[in-house]
Amino acid sequence: MRSAAVVLVLLLTACSGPAISTGASSTVTMEETVASDGADPEDTPSTTARVVEYTDGSSGIGDSLFPELGNGGYDVEHYALDLVFDGEALSGSAELTITATQPIRSFRLELTGLNVTGVTVDGLSASYDLADELTVYPSVPIDEGKTVTLDVKYHGIPRSVPNVAGRFPVGWHQSVDGWFALSEPAGADTWFPSNNHPLDKATLSLRITVPPGLEAVSSGSLLEVEATEQGTAYLWDSNEPIAPYLIALAIGVFDREESTSVGGVPIINYFDEDVGEAERRLFARQGEMLDFFAGIFGPYPFDEYGAIVLETTEVPAALETQTRSTFGTQILVLGEAVVAHELSHQWVGDSVSVADWGDIWLNEGFATYSDWLWLEHTQGNAALEKAVTEAYARLSGPGPGGFSSTQEGLAQSKEGFPPPGSPPADDLFNLSVYQRGGLTLHALRLHLGDEPFFGVLKDWATEHRYGNASTDDFLELVERSGDTRARSLVEEWIFAKDLPPIDELNLPPPE
Ligand code: TRP
Ligand code: ZN
Repeated sequence: MRSAAVVLVLLLTACSGPAISTGASSTVTMEETVASDGADPEDTPSTTARVVEYTDGSSGIGDSLFPELGNGGYDVEHYALDLVFDGEALSGSAELTITATQPIRSFRLELTGLNVTGVTVDGLSASYDLADELTVYPSVPIDEGKTVTLDVKYHGIPRSVPNVAGRFPVGWHQSVDGWFALSEPAGADTWFPSNNHPLDKATLSLRITVPPGLEAVSSGSLLEVEATEQGTAYLWDSNEPIAPYLIALAIGVFDREESTSVGGVPIINYFDEDVGEAERRLFARQGEMLDFFAGIFGPYPFDEYGAIVLETTEVPAALETQTRSTFGTQILVLGEAVVAHELSHQWVGDSVSVADWGDIWLNEGFATYSDWLWLEHTQGNAALEKAVTEAYARLSGPGPGGFSSTQEGLAQSKEGFPPPGSPPADDLFNLSVYQRGGLTLHALRLHLGDEPFFGVLKDWATEHRYGNASTDDFLELVERSGDTRARSLVEEWIFAKDLPPIDELNLPPPE
């Protein structure tokens, strides 16, 4: 309390000293005495009291499907993680630069399955409480707009957690030869404290020390490799904002392979030693793909790209981890399509992130359409039409199932597929989000014509670069194309219960 008073005295010019009340209530109020309106503050003794109410940051950021994800009251600007992994336990510190978006008495972060040993805010030790989330009570309440440094010291044995969105577990995993993290939508909390929602993106520096002989690969650029007493420290830096779930992390022994796209973007791949030649060949055209997608969506948004390919039996999937997508070898049965899919996500998903998980078709529908565009580019328009027709047939059958599950293992339901714009929380990555999402874009293309359609795609990635965007933002952009029917066409595709027809392709086929 004493330090609270000190801070306020410094902040206020005309001040009779703060009155602080705590107690059972969840707010702290401080009375500031300020000059009343209209009076010359210098020579009037007349003052009025303005009460600043310091409240608890909410335990969710307001997501429609996962109200508990993310937190309110602050915004993370930067994560500086300094971690040591010894082959079992993880320990270290997470230093977060955060800005209060309301006067805060306490705020929360997501952290699961690890222990906290100390928390400071601007160097002052803070009390905290670790239950479902980590709640921090700074010793001095934080004024709205103020930026502070939060430091969390923690340790424990990281593990994966069940996925709130269904399918395989997320977070920290053991691979066949090492460890990795794949966290969409909510697994990042298994290895560091965060505001775990795409709405709060921040820059990142990750220093991680791993046992001798192992490497640590992450998102961004590798700035430094240093031998330490415990092993080898790798320093990775992301200078573009990144959502917590998109941070790549893989620990193991890798073959590093470097090239450059014709357009000049470095492509640096990390293949687990055991990944075979045929599988590595699927990544050979990434530079070409990158230049192709830059033609569609505008300049590549990051400094470099690459793939991390590892062996895992637990996660038969790939994730568009930022600047360096992560692939489990099992998903490579899908061939080059999945390589194109994850690369395109760097624009749609990573640079432009969803504002709400309910908008997931903006990621998966766009990335699906992107892999169809690559197919069209490499094999011609008939190949694209075949993919569209097959997707249409699949969606006309019983649902649901997902791109990330093996195609033959799709669960069947008599309900049919939910429209992509209103996905169920417990099956977020269902087939409709991907394929009906992709068909939505193809239907829009056939309706508008190529030139206006590709204009919409480029504007989308350009206008929301490094930010967040919603389905409403997309509908507004489509409306701006000037075509009166375009918006309602897209609305039907993403929200109507029944799969709309594609007359241009004679879909559905006449009964
Ligand atoms: N976004 C991934 C894709 O491009 C799918 C996915 C969702 C995923 N959650 C995941 C992959 C968790 C790995 C782990 O298809
Ligand atoms: Zn995807």
